[in-house]
Amino acid sequence: MEEPEEFWAEQARQLDWFKTWDSVLQWESPFARWFPGGQLNASYLCVDRHVKTWRRSKVAIYWEGEPGDTRVLSYATLYREVNRFADILKKIGIGKGDRVALYLPMIPELPIFMLACARIGAVHTVIFSGFSAQALADRVNDTQAKLLITADAGFRRGKPLPLKEICDQAVGLTPSVDKVIVVKRAGIPVTMKEGKDLWLHDLLDTAASSVKPEPMESCEPLYILYTSGTTGKPKGIVHGTGGYLVFNYSAYKWVFDIREESVYWCTADVGWVTGHSSIVYAPLAHGAAIVLYEGAPDYPTLDRWWDIIEKYGVTIFYTSPTAIRMFMRYGEEGPERHDLSSLELLGSVGEPINPEAWLWYYQNIGGERCPIVDTWWQTETGGIMISPAPGIECVPLKPGSATFPLPGVDAAVVDEQGKPVADEQRGHLVIRKPWPGMLLGIHGDPHRYERSYWSKFRGMFYTGDYAIRDKDGYYWILGRADEVLKVAGHRMGPAELEDAAISHPALAEAAVVGKADPIKGDNIVVFAILKQGFTPSPELRMELAEHMRRVVGPIATPDEVYFVASLPKTRSGKIMRRVLKAVASDEDIGDLTTLEDEASVEEVRKSYEELKRQL
Ligand code: WT7
Repeated sequence: MEEPEEFWAEQARQLDWFKTWDSVLQWESPFARWFPGGQLNASYLCVDRHVKTWRRSKVAIYWEGEPGDTRVLSYATLYREVNRFADILKKIGIGKGDRVALYLPMIPELPIFMLACARIGAVHTVIFSGFSAQALADRVNDTQAKLLITADAGFRRGKPLPLKEICDQAVGLTPSVDKVIVVKRAGIPVTMKEGKDLWLHDLLDTAASSVKPEPMESCEPLYILYTSGTTGKPKGIVHGTGGYLVFNYSAYKWVFDIREESVYWCTADVGWVTGHSSIVYAPLAHGAAIVLYEGAPDYPTLDRWWDIIEKYGVTIFYTSPTAIRMFMRYGEEGPERHDLSSLELLGSVGEPINPEAWLWYYQNIGGERCPIVDTWWQTETGGIMISPAPGIECVPLKPGSATFPLPGVDAAVVDEQGKPVADEQRGHLVIRKPWPGMLLGIHGDPHRYERSYWSKFRGMFYTGDYAIRDKDGYYWILGRADEVLKVAGHRMGPAELEDAAISHPALAEAAVVGKADPIKGDNIVVFAILKQGFTPSPELRMELAEHMRRVVGPIATPDEVYFVASLPKTRSGKIMRRVLKAVASDEDIGDLTTLEDEASVEEVRKSYEELKRQL
């Protein structure tokens, strides 16, 4: 912590650089440039390095499709495929700095295309395959991608999810997209548009097997990934190359204690940051063997995951609290039916894990043998920030605590003025020093970057989470302090959900809040004002839910819809979401009143009573 630059330089030396950096950090607050002048390539690090060693014949990816089909890729195969895919991209006219949108199921082609983009210096933007055509189009338009890559379909609960068809709707709205590459996964019929849509297998017929990795300056972008904030459209978080890889390489080793013989499975979708850092870049940079599974966790039987762990001899298993709570409800018979003795280490990510779920996971999956690493991080942080780190030091675990910040991570818990709070007091989690994995910025919007993360507290990165540091220095992450929802680990902003709701012809106004759910973290609750001439009905409620699902995707389906005559607002017209939240959760507003901007306690209470009367 005292000499962070020396420390991070030492870490950086473990990677292969084509050219050494000129300096470790250029910090022009709030913009950081890590290892400027250095040159490297992410795909070189993840594949070329390994094929020069015995790892050439080591398994890189054990892939399991939902229907039960499997593929095993060695590092040699992965290297060959990354090169061939990179050649295809080049022949289509994609070059350094071009954006490529990936809308794919969890099949090996997804990481291969990511690495192929990285190889030629193109910037990938992966869009979660659960998003709808409109959500896909919005993200593609923000990046101005020239190329969109998809599959005919992916499998989910035994049914093909028709991704190409969704892309057909989206490309009508995305003028930047010139070409669409289609992977044949499910074998369902699709319409291929002459001159625009191309089958991957046709392109591979003539692909060259070697493409030189493009030397990338350390601060050149590796990818853009969308995530949601309190207001506005989703933000395109931009990650660079050098700092991002250095940080992830180190954090991964510290947290997961990765070894050659490890078989590592992270159950996240590659469409989220966990997938980028903790399925693709960090594990492959270490030459690890990873498991990739296409489908639903409980399909076709409730023990599908435990079956996969046994089948591949998984040693490190990394999943979300929502999944653990879901399996808790299913009971112990599933895991009991399988030999899970290969497991050595368990991980949790995405939401706070309640002690009850932690203990269930520890006992029933880890057999009271495996430590649990509760890893706190964000799309913006690029990699794990607060977590136990058995790869460097063993600390006693406390169920529900992410324990301590990783080396070089200067976390703190502060009050509204930015002053550190006393131990055991709730405050805002902030990061006081730049770290190599931090985002470069928000795509196309430097002001929003500054506003979102660096303006609440001077010189400190605002995470948006509440936390407590206990008397032993352990961090307990309590969840979002802002209005961002966490639905089954997925991060959703109220603004995008409200926009989706309002696009329904019957709605005049809408407000969305999260309501605590024992399994999913947050439920989506919509308060809606109808236009003149529309009357509330159960049918309309269903229709609105279906509409939001169609506009954003299944993850945006509301759990509750209330029709109201008015919404509680401050004098300046800001919706008092905490009032809505309290009403939806059937809680008293209590001390929440003081948290509302501008409004007096009296006004807040009145709005609260008024809203309750309406329901
Ligand atoms: C938000 C970031 C990091 C990859 C997946 C989520 C919550 C994340 C934890 C944890 C408590 C956690 C926070 C954070 N969160 N990990 N271990 N304990 N909360 O990335 O979608 O950018 O969401 O997830 O609220 O701010 P993301």
